[in-house]
Amino acid sequence: MNQKALLFLLPNFFFGIFLLGFFYRKQKSLAGDFPVCSEDWGAIQNDRKTTLASLCLKNNLLKVRNQLDSHVASQLFVEHNHNFIYCEVPKVGCSNWKRTIFLLQANTHAEASEIEHDFIHQTSAIRRLASYPPAKQQDFLKNYTKVMFTRHPFERLVSAYRDKLLHSEPYYSDTVANQIRAMFRKNKNSSGKVSFQEFVNFVLAKPPDSLDIHWKPMYLLCDPCNIHYDVLGKYETLGLDSEHVLKVIGAPENLHYPSLKRYGSEKRTNGYITLEYLRQLNSEQIEKINKLYHMDFVLFNYTMKYEEYFSLND
Ligand SMILES: *[C@@H]1O[C@H](CO)[C@@H](O)[C@H](O)[C@H]1NC(C)=O
Ligand SMILES: *[C@@H]1O[C@H](CO)[C@@H](O)[C@H](O)[C@H]1NC(C)=O
Ligand SMILES: *[C@@H]1O[C@H](CO)[C@@H](O)[C@H](O)[C@H]1NC(C)=O
Repeated sequence: MNQKALLFLLPNFFFGIFLLGFFYRKQKSLAGDFPVCSEDWGAIQNDRKTTLASLCLKNNLLKVRNQLDSHVASQLFVEHNHNFIYCEVPKVGCSNWKRTIFLLQANTHAEASEIEHDFIHQTSAIRRLASYPPAKQQDFLKNYTKVMFTRHPFERLVSAYRDKLLHSEPYYSDTVANQIRAMFRKNKNSSGKVSFQEFVNFVLAKPPDSLDIHWKPMYLLCDPCNIHYDVLGKYETLGLDSEHVLKVIGAPENLHYPSLKRYGSEKRTNGYITLEYLRQLNSEQIEKINKLYHMDFVLFNYTMKYEEYFSLND
């Protein structure tokens, strides 16, 4: 090869390396685990927390004596290896969070997928804050990293209906479903599946405080105005927020938040599915569920313009 050819080829060679590097970086950022960098994520968290604090004040939700409600204490799970407290909000990725807590605590190399859904909801291996004496509860609340996750109230409601009333889980598909039929059907013998409208009327018929945890307003479950959560995660960014939480509490690097689903073949409740169900309701029902979940909308910054919201988020 003569020198002229070499002079021509060399720049091409370097340009090729440059291009390769460029595409590699581009691909990495597309598949990246952290599309939002830590500073941005921290800024969003601070924004959520300060906004929440001012809304709590404005809506008179601060308790004078900071005593922990026993219903709230039983929603909180404690993990001592990483000084971590998680508030369980059903329908917002809680089974996978409880699996994660089990793994954090057990320090094993087990996979989240090896932990059965029913096991993780029944085991006493992960402990609730309510199982400790009050003084200890206060200690843990003071020192530990506290986390809660929220989801759009309507999507959570639809998800609860699909999960609990459309599947055959004895307590819900028999006991609760029969209660609903008895309340709203003229023909007491009719055994057809409970419709979404019937379910919504049932939810609306009871005082909010007494509702089943799967559809009880999120702010009543976790009391975010009096428990100062360090992280306010959202289902809309569940994977991202969860990875950040694991980083914040110093979890082992090989531990990742799982994305397991209970009914593997079914679609997760998304914006499109939520809209389909909401369109079955009349305006009076919509107005009433808006009222029931009013504080969830306000405190966690969800819009009541659901048609707009879910058309964009499907
Ligand atoms: C509330 O939601 C809006 C619209 O999604 C967003 O632009 C805003 O930053 C959010 N505010 C907080 C405090 O999270
Ligand atoms: C919490 O922190 C205080 C002060 O640092 C300490 O005295 C107390 O033992 C801690 N409690 C727990 C449960 O770690
Ligand atoms: C309900 O079932 C009972 C017993 O099978 C029957 O006698 C009754 O007529 C039924 N009622 C209606 C409204 O279908």
